[in-house]
Amino acid sequence: MKRKREIGAMENTIVKQLTSTYVSREETIVSRATNRIVKLAPSILAADFARLGEQVAEAELAGADRIHVDIMDGHFVPNITMGAPIVQSLRRVTRLPLEIHMMISDPDFFLSEFVEAGSDSFLVHWEGNNHLHRTVQRIKALGKRAGVAINPATPATVLEEILPDVDQVLVMTVNPGFGHQPFIHTTLPKIRRVGQLIEQLKPECELEVDGGIDETTAPLTVAAGANVLVAGSSIFGAESCEVCTAMHRLRNAVNCCGL
Ligand code: DX5
Ligand code: ZN
Repeated sequence: MKRKREIGAMENTIVKQLTSTYVSREETIVSRATNRIVKLAPSILAADFARLGEQVAEAELAGADRIHVDIMDGHFVPNITMGAPIVQSLRRVTRLPLEIHMMISDPDFFLSEFVEAGSDSFLVHWEGNNHLHRTVQRIKALGKRAGVAINPATPATVLEEILPDVDQVLVMTVNPGFGHQPFIHTTLPKIRRVGQLIEQLKPECELEVDGGIDETTAPLTVAAGANVLVAGSSIFGAESCEVCTAMHRLRNAVNCCGL
């Protein structure tokens, strides 16, 4: 009971810090390729789970735009991560939108549970989903933002029919399943092609990239048209610096390239 009260007090302190010292976004990245603001979505996969609330609060203070949560089931990808309880805990310590990347075989089955836990948007894969349109409509019926993710070997053209129905497209720049993998450079022309499709079919749709995004690769993806960058190890896993320094470096890398 006492421990519960202590945890409650810690959560209140974090929320108070966020409301009283919330920093204005000191650096904004605007892409010349798309003339749009580039958003940062730190992926908690690389966070220290023993200090998860603290690290997410730090990312929020440093101007993160949303928090990316990777859900893996050991079937769709060869790794297992977390479930809805993590989202429920995060919901108590951050006001940022919680974006759920569903790397699971049957996303429809878990949508309600994740919505109840406090999720704001879902990224579901094109691969292995025979009824993608239905999944997207279910997400929208739950009142949440819907996005479609495509793996490195999946062509941009599969998005043509579903694009008018979604708010985001996620181009995987590594094979899904693990953090800290090297960026696959052959995805760059595909990011461009997806950008062109978005321009033609749904200009307000976001173009997000995920995997191996760091100071070197982020500018390349922004130049190709990406406007949301998911980054795990380059934000939470940087050994030499804290979360806010890592985010500052990532933003600077994109800004300095004059994109
Ligand atoms: C990989 C996940 C990514 C992962 C990225 O399957 O979808 O979101 O966290 O991690 P980094 O940024 O370390 O490549
Ligand atoms: Zn992801």
